[in-house]
Amino acid sequence: MTAAPTIAEEILELKRERRAIILAHHYQDAEIQEIADFTGDSLELARAARDTEGDVIAFCGVWFMAETAKVLSPNRIVIVPDRNASCSLVEGCPVEPIREYRRRNPDHVIVSYINTSIEVKAESDLLCTSRNAVNIVNSIPADKTVLFLPDRNLGNYVKRQTGRENLKIWQGSCIVHNTFPVRRLLEAKTAHPEAIVVAHPECPEAVLDHSDFIGSTSAIVDYVAAHAGREFIVMTESGVGFSLERVAPTSRFYYVANENCNCSECPFMRLNTLEKLRDSLQTLEPRVELSADLIARALLPLERMLAVK
Ligand code: 13P
Ligand code: SF4
Repeated sequence: MTAAPTIAEEILELKRERRAIILAHHYQDAEIQEIADFTGDSLELARAARDTEGDVIAFCGVWFMAETAKVLSPNRIVIVPDRNASCSLVEGCPVEPIREYRRRNPDHVIVSYINTSIEVKAESDLLCTSRNAVNIVNSIPADKTVLFLPDRNLGNYVKRQTGRENLKIWQGSCIVHNTFPVRRLLEAKTAHPEAIVVAHPECPEAVLDHSDFIGSTSAIVDYVAAHAGREFIVMTESGVGFSLERVAPTSRFYYVANENCNCSECPFMRLNTLEKLRDSLQTLEPRVELSADLIARALLPLERMLAVK
């Protein structure tokens, strides 16, 4: 008698049948990252969506990332294991006030973090990710007023890095990073005085002030790889641990719990599971469906971003 296939085997079989590629963000559960064709940060995943082939993109991340993939690959089917995998930054930045801002300030440049809805992207002049936000803002003529949205911590970080005074910042925040208390980081530093602190720029300024390295999730993974063997205090979502342990297997990693869940997990990312991935490959749902008009309008700022190094 042959054993029933495991969920992972079912996924691999469906992947072949559907001519699907599985893209996973660093924050996904280890078992999802293990089965993915490509794991990366938001920028790398957008590029992978654009540059890979196949009929279906199974996007294991949050919905806005899958919408970005659809804009870049409009002829492919893009699915996400759980339709409710949203993001507090998206939820906190509705499109109406952005349209109103644009009407009132037609000469301002709107730079949207990729963690926004497709409707907000369509109202934007440029997009950015945590990896390229400083370069994107530096690419805008100095005399232009910029509205940066929606993450206030990333916006303040960009403002400090660029020295740009005429940068207005939307006051959104990430429920995971914004609630890391500096007090707990200082306690971790006392407990592990040799550890290097690596942080995502969505953390508050007080946390970033006590960090040794600030970067996107993949930038953090690359930095840890270059310092393998050292100890690290990690100020980002703990799913990144899978990639960190892969590139630095002898290192020790310490995660600081935030005040929101007393953990460092993104509840939206955690909604995706291996079972739901299998089901979505079977049914090709939940599927990202966008109008041609929305795709065309969001593509412009997205392509401008991808053109900036
Ligand atoms: P990265 O682009 O650095 O992967 O960040 C995505 C994100 O949602 C961080 O919370
Ligand atoms: Fe959004 Fe924060 Fe989750 Fe990233 S970690 S997807 S910014 S809620």
